[in-house]
Amino acid sequence: MTPIIALAPIDGFTDLPFRRLCRKMGATLVFTEMTSANGLVNTKTYRAIRLKTCDEEQPCFLQLSGSDPAIMAKAAKLGEQAGFKGIDINAGCPSKKVMAGGGGARLLFDLGRLEEIIKAVQGSVSIPVSLKVRAGLSADALVLDQIADIATRHRLAFVTLHARTVSQGFAGSAKWEWIGYLKRRSGTKVIGNGDVKQPQDAQRMLEQTGCDGIMIGRAALGNPWIFRDIIDLLEGRNLRSRVTKEEKVRLILRHFDLLLEYTGSETISARHIRKHLMRYVRGMQGASQIRGLLTSVSSKDDLNRVIQLIVDPALLRKDFCDEDYKEGLA
Ligand SMILES: Cc1cc2nc3c(=O)[nH]c(=O)nc-3n(C[C@H](O)[C@H](O)[C@H](O)COP(=O)(O)O)c2cc1C
Repeated sequence: MTPIIALAPIDGFTDLPFRRLCRKMGATLVFTEMTSANGLVNTKTYRAIRLKTCDEEQPCFLQLSGSDPAIMAKAAKLGEQAGFKGIDINAGCPSKKVMAGGGGARLLFDLGRLEEIIKAVQGSVSIPVSLKVRAGLSADALVLDQIADIATRHRLAFVTLHARTVSQGFAGSAKWEWIGYLKRRSGTKVIGNGDVKQPQDAQRMLEQTGCDGIMIGRAALGNPWIFRDIIDLLEGRNLRSRVTKEEKVRLILRHFDLLLEYTGSETISARHIRKHLMRYVRGMQGASQIRGLLTSVSSKDDLNRVIQLIVDPALLRKDFCDEDYKEGLA
């Protein structure tokens, strides 16, 4: 049986269009970006955009951040009504702002509150509830045993462990042995996360830790094909050759169309596609020059001009580009 191959929640990136692309590429589970429970409950415009989902992307878990059990429960209910297939509680975000509000990784130091939140959320929805955590505040203040007990006691659908500590930020490397420890110690499924950069890493993480699934964050940005490649590898097929320029262009155009459908605005879609384009062009001929032009992409026409440059980098010759393209992108 193929294990869970999940797209991570990534603030600013894993909106509905990107999740749809990743599901198409083979991710078996996707997560929304961190969504404020308070925002969902109290702000209509936030709710309207953050609860957008569709059948095609399911199963998708709505990730909630917050610290008030009653508000988390209300937000979870809204997510269930919107059609999400699960609720993921964020207890791993190390951002100062999120922690100052008592949510994210702050919950790892207030485990009583974390349990209250889990109970309140489970009490308000009938869809699965999961938890995403880091390993602890620092290497000498791990909370893996406590998390294992909580996950087992509350029969969580699964726990995702980003195998770094809060104080580590994104520095150093993820300690996969913590994933193996949590898996052995808890009675629930464990999804391993941290530093899966290529398909072979996914296979190694599964083998080394015995985890039930893996989650990919940064390596999927600009490369949603990674899900297809991981599944090919795990199912014993040969890895396909590198993604061609034509495949990239097709995907970028599809991404933009999905953004248009999602935002209803060409300008907003253009703003969103820019940050993805920065990553789609990684490793391509002329990438740094193309990146320099992206800030001025504000319409589909602008995007098409960039695509012409991707297809034919010879057009990037400074003389040509200055007159015909930079002007068009200004
Ligand atoms: C820009 C950025 C935004 C992130 N946003 C979230 C988030 O909203 N919720 C969350 O649980 N984790 C978030 N993370 C953490 C990722 O989900 C993941 O745990 C981390 O990047 C490690 O996995 P990776 O090595 O595959 O990237 C974010 C990470 C990055 C780099």
